Amino acid sequence: MPQPATREQWASRLGLVLAMAGNAIGLGNFLRFPRLAVENGGGAFMIPYFVALLLLGIPVMWVEWAMGRYGGQHHHSTTPGMFGLLWKHPVAKYLGVLGIGFPLMITIYYCYIMSWTLAYAIFAATGYYAAPTDETVAVKRLAVAPAELKALRTKLSLKEDAPITQAQWNLAAADFTTLDVDHNGELSPAETAVVSDPLGNFHTKRFLKEYRQNGDPGESGRYFSSIWPAACFWLIAVGLNTYVLARGVSAGIEQLAKIAMPLLFVFAIVLCVRVLTLTPEPGATDSVWTGLNYVWEPNTSKLMNFGTWLAAAGQIFFTLSIGTGSIHVYASYLKRDDDIALGSIGTASLNEFAEVILGATIAIPMAVVTFGLLNTQAIAAQGSFDLGFVAMPLIFERMPFGSLLATFWFALLFFAGITSSVALSSPLVAFLQDELGTSRRTAALICGSVVFLFGIPIVFFDKSGSYLGQYDFWAGTFGLALFTFIEVVIFAWIFGGTAMWEEMTRGNHVRIPRFFYYIIRFVAPLYLGILLVGWFWENFSSVVLLEGTAAPEAQFLWLARATMVLLLIVLCAGAWWGTVRRQRKLASLSVEGGAA
Ligand code: PHE
Repeated sequence: MPQPATREQWASRLGLVLAMAGNAIGLGNFLRFPRLAVENGGGAFMIPYFVALLLLGIPVMWVEWAMGRYGGQHHHSTTPGMFGLLWKHPVAKYLGVLGIGFPLMITIYYCYIMSWTLAYAIFAATGYYAAPTDETVAVKRLAVAPAELKALRTKLSLKEDAPITQAQWNLAAADFTTLDVDHNGELSPAETAVVSDPLGNFHTKRFLKEYRQNGDPGESGRYFSSIWPAACFWLIAVGLNTYVLARGVSAGIEQLAKIAMPLLFVFAIVLCVRVLTLTPEPGATDSVWTGLNYVWEPNTSKLMNFGTWLAAAGQIFFTLSIGTGSIHVYASYLKRDDDIALGSIGTASLNEFAEVILGATIAIPMAVVTFGLLNTQAIAAQGSFDLGFVAMPLIFERMPFGSLLATFWFALLFFAGITSSVALSSPLVAFLQDELGTSRRTAALICGSVVFLFGIPIVFFDKSGSYLGQYDFWAGTFGLALFTFIEVVIFAWIFGGTAMWEEMTRGNHVRIPRFFYYIIRFVAPLYLGILLVGWFWENFSSVVLLEGTAAPEAQFLWLARATMVLLLIVLCAGAWWGTVRRQRKLASLSVEGGAA
């Protein structure tokens, strides 16, 4: 295939590494990782996490860099074309469509969350969410240990994790006097709520609810009375994403990474230093070291728990951006003999530094010092947003120079977010350019419009966040493992072990140990197969069949699924049209050749 002179390239080696690091380092590192680590037992989570990094993360990175570089040589930046090269079968390109569809689905919700970080950076700088003067910001420390809760459940013959009703709490009130804040001998709903939702009564929680307009209507109005502020920031975020993509690979993505990455590291390091010098408040028992110890003290208590292994592998995929088709695009702008072993190890190392060192040192110890370890666990159980958007602002508010530090925190999240959102949108943009022949600008505009249109239900109608949850599960969790499974089988088995190894090792400055050949061919597909079955199994009734979801809500979630299917159908049509176009072009070239 002739190579048009216009094929884009990275301007510099440093730019490539920063862009790849920007791709990987994202909200996953600073919001998702700390939440999962705390929720899954800290040190107990880290063992499955590092196993997944070594057996899946690093080898799959090499596979994706190699496939991307190979595709780029044949003028294909995206997986429909790449799969078609590696497996000469008509179905290959349709499987490759998943490598555009899944990242696009992630972009659709990712841009919305990223827009919150931009908004919050501005709110922090202007002091907008500060506590109203009539509210006391004393943080109540939770005094119910998990063992006590367990004892209560046993006493009530409830299953582990079963909800405890208000009436049951009141019967047990005498055992939980520390929860009885107003000392009236009874446990009110507000008092027992602190067990599961310690931040429930704070203004930053209300602020986030009002910002998303997902609280009770009666709660609205102190900070925001409509969704429009959030919608405006969302439009700005989608606009910025589109703008960077429209500028192209080196003038857009690479330039952005060169500015955003260094700033991100500076902000993160300042915050880490601040955290390490925090002293516990009077009366507090947990220090910064309690938090760090919790994450770093290896413990084997969860090794038999399948859910922990799933969560750890899922986080490795998400944080390294593997299984989405977006690394392929970035790698396709490499030259034929450019090193890939060192490049991918460099990116993975930067990402892991940002995740387990910086990511774990900021949010977790800060929350532990302020709320104690037990509360921090309860906060993490509420999802990724409570830790980052509710607990952190509250903590910063109570510190000297808090609004400056809070601005750093949200600006850091924003930089992490935007460098990842352009990576997530890149497959669609590159596909439109390469296979359908649109200009980069048109491609970026089409991408922006899709993200806008499909994001409308999430921004305006998704009160509980469950519509977003569907996208996150199918594309951002299950999809990543599914896609990785497909690509590993195509590369290591159909394209073949020898060809794969040649492609992976050519041009490298460091030798990839042969050990990884076996990992990629045997261990990774098996590991992934078990994960996929496990995911399905664990989530079958609640997530797949939506059991226990009320009818109107379930219909809304089916709508979410229908929109995802629609996206995939349109993309398949695009892949089909792309092949027709190429064949016509080839035919006309050979006619011209014949005439001459
Ligand atoms: N790795 C990014 C994060 O940690 C998310 C991402 C996934 C980006 C897939 C690109 C592709 O937030």
